[in-house]
Amino acid sequence: MKNKSLVSINDFSKEDYLAILETAAEFEKDPVQNILKGYVIATLFFEPSTRTRLSFESAINKLGGRVIGFTDAASSSVKKGESLKDTIITVANYSDLIVMRHPIEGSARYASEVSGVPIVNAGDGANQHPTQCLLDLYSIKKTQGTLENLNIALVGDLKYGRTVHSLLMAMSSFNPTFNFISPPELQMPSAYKSSLDDKGIKYYEHTNLEEALQYADIVYMTRVQKERFSDPMEYEKVKNAYILKNSMLEGTKDNLRILHPLPRVNEIDTDVDSNPKAYYFQQALNGVYTRQAIIAKILGLK
Ligand code: CP
Repeated sequence: MKNKSLVSINDFSKEDYLAILETAAEFEKDPVQNILKGYVIATLFFEPSTRTRLSFESAINKLGGRVIGFTDAASSSVKKGESLKDTIITVANYSDLIVMRHPIEGSARYASEVSGVPIVNAGDGANQHPTQCLLDLYSIKKTQGTLENLNIALVGDLKYGRTVHSLLMAMSSFNPTFNFISPPELQMPSAYKSSLDDKGIKYYEHTNLEEALQYADIVYMTRVQKERFSDPMEYEKVKNAYILKNSMLEGTKDNLRILHPLPRVNEIDTDVDSNPKAYYFQQALNGVYTRQAIIAKILGLK
C-alpha cells in the first residue's frame, strides 16, 4: 500500500482492507498520535462535503499533520481556467498526499497519473468513494463481528450512488447475499451485476423495502442525489421512493444495523435515530479512525 494511490476500492486487496481495519481499530483506541509531524496533506474539494473533508482533516490534525487545500474550486485558479492536470502537479509540489473530490467520473484516476504524490479519491462523480467504503467495512465488522456471509440490503439510488458501487465491490470478497431495493429508474448498473454473476455472488432485486428488511443484517440506505439528474422532473418522480420508518423495523433481526453514508434528506425518518439499530452517526465517526489508517498506510507510517 505504501505510496499507492487509492482511486478505486479495487486498487486494494482483501488483505489490504483487513490491514486497514486492524489499524483503524488501533487508532480508535488511541486516536491522538504525532506520526504526521512534518507532513502536509492537501484536501481539494471540487464538490461539497461535510463528513469526508472534515473527518479527513480531523484525522490529520489528531496525528499532528498540517492541512492545505480548498473547499470550493471557485476560490482557486481553476476559476481562471487552470486545468486539473496543472492544479494537481502544482499541489503535489506542496504536499505529501492529495485527497480529492471531483464531480467527473475518472478524474481521480487521471489525477493519480499526473501527480507526484499519492491521490486518495474522496468521490469522483457517480463512480467510486473508496474511503467511505473502508469506513463502511469497519462499521459492518464492528457491529456484526465479521464481514463474512452477511445479508446486505442496498436501498435507494443504486444507479448513481458511488458509495454502493464501492461497497458492492469490496463486500464481494466476503461471500455476501445482496438485496437491491430501488425504483426501476435507479437500479444497480448491469456492469456491477455482471461482476457479481462472474463471482457467483447471490443478489435479488426488489421494489418492496419491508420484505427485504426481514432478512437483512445490514440495511444501507442512500439519498436520491438531486445533483446527478439532468432532468428535474425525473428527480421529482423518484425522490421519495423509499422512506425508512421506525415501525418498519419491528420483527427485524436483533443484529440488524442501519447504515447511511449521509447526508440524509428524508429517506430515514428522524424517529429512527433513537432506535438502537440506527448506526449512521457512529458510522460517520468511524470515518476519522479509518481515514487515519488509510493515510498512515499510504505514507508507510504503520
Ligand atoms: N458520506 C459522504 O461522502 O458525506 P459528505 O458528502 O458530507 O462528505
